Amino acid sequence: MKAVVINGITPAEQVRLTEAPVPAVKPGWVLVRVRAFGMNHSEQILRLSEIEAPYIQRPVIPGIECVGEIADPSDSGWQAGQRVIAMMGGMGRSFDGGYAEYALLPAHHVFPVETDLPWDALAAVPETWFTAWGSLFECLRLEPKDALLIRGATCALGYAAIEIARALGCRIVATTHREAKLRLLAAADEAVLDDGKLAGGVRGVTKALDLVGPRYLKDTLRAVEKGGIVCNTGILGGVFALNGFDPIKDIPNGVYLTGFYSNAPTRAAVNAIFDFIKTRGIAPAYGARFAFSEIREACMALDNGRVNGKIVVVMD
Ligand SMILES: NC(=O)c1ccc[n+]([C@@H]2O[C@H](COP(=O)([O-])OP(=O)(O)OC[C@H]3O[C@@H](n4cnc5c(N)ncnc54)[C@H](OP(=O)(O)O)[C@@H]3O)[C@@H](O)[C@H]2O)c1
Repeated sequence: MKAVVINGITPAEQVRLTEAPVPAVKPGWVLVRVRAFGMNHSEQILRLSEIEAPYIQRPVIPGIECVGEIADPSDSGWQAGQRVIAMMGGMGRSFDGGYAEYALLPAHHVFPVETDLPWDALAAVPETWFTAWGSLFECLRLEPKDALLIRGATCALGYAAIEIARALGCRIVATTHREAKLRLLAAADEAVLDDGKLAGGVRGVTKALDLVGPRYLKDTLRAVEKGGIVCNTGILGGVFALNGFDPIKDIPNGVYLTGFYSNAPTRAAVNAIFDFIKTRGIAPAYGARFAFSEIREACMALDNGRVNGKIVVVMD
């Protein structure tokens, strides 16, 4: 099969397809014929530095998510040809991932889905929608009556959150730190330029999804109404932890703070997501599409950060 195999630090320009053996199934693992996959920044980090960490399998096929069909169900009880999505659980890091024509994956991180979505739109869903879904419903308990602030909305996760909240009927206030990108937030009710001070400037916000993260989190906490909830899911601001955080003074009275971590996808969430997509007639959006033979270009696009939204790669 064709695959991307890396064994050391690999700039995007050096990424290429090589031949690798199709893996043999083993109990508890299923063989997936990969049809498409979405790309993630964690794969850029893997290529550029993390590949040298002791907990990474080397050599490794990157890719923390993919979509495709069961090629060999092993002992899972599923049928060959069944459509599946797969994500996380060490995929593309502690065992081979989705940048390949076939992937051998632990059955508990593979999810059969009933959907008519084409492969490219389906590839935009797994990690991004699972994270948006968990943040909005498990953490923020989003309801149609909510006014949702999405801080740092011009990213794959932000666009997915807008799609979900819009379908639910919420009022959406979405921010970007670049004036030129305000037009990319036309699907929100209000697009706001974020200069780091939203508190006092946005009104009536009951829930906030913070994708910029600790850099402005204290300001986000002050931007929601009393009784409101803030979920920190992203770290686009480049600050990863809050030093000197004073919970007594930094969390306003009656405001709730939570966070979402996408490491453990569940069948219940995946089923709910695909039910929502189907019943609301949503075509999940993506920012750029590449063929697998263009994987080098896809990695370059990921690294230069100029694509607005998810990058998807479809098998030739
Ligand atoms: N908690 C979890 O489990 C989880 C799971 C997945 C992703 N995430 C996090 O969620 C965030 C979004 O992920 P993604 O994959 O959707 O990202 P992405 O699509 O790769 O988006 C990156 C975009 O964010 C914009 N951006 C960069 N810095 C920004 C800032 N300071 N303020 C506002 N926008 C900024 C960039 O555009 P411009 O700078 O040009 O505006 C860039 O286009 C990331 O921080 C990621 O680590 C968390």
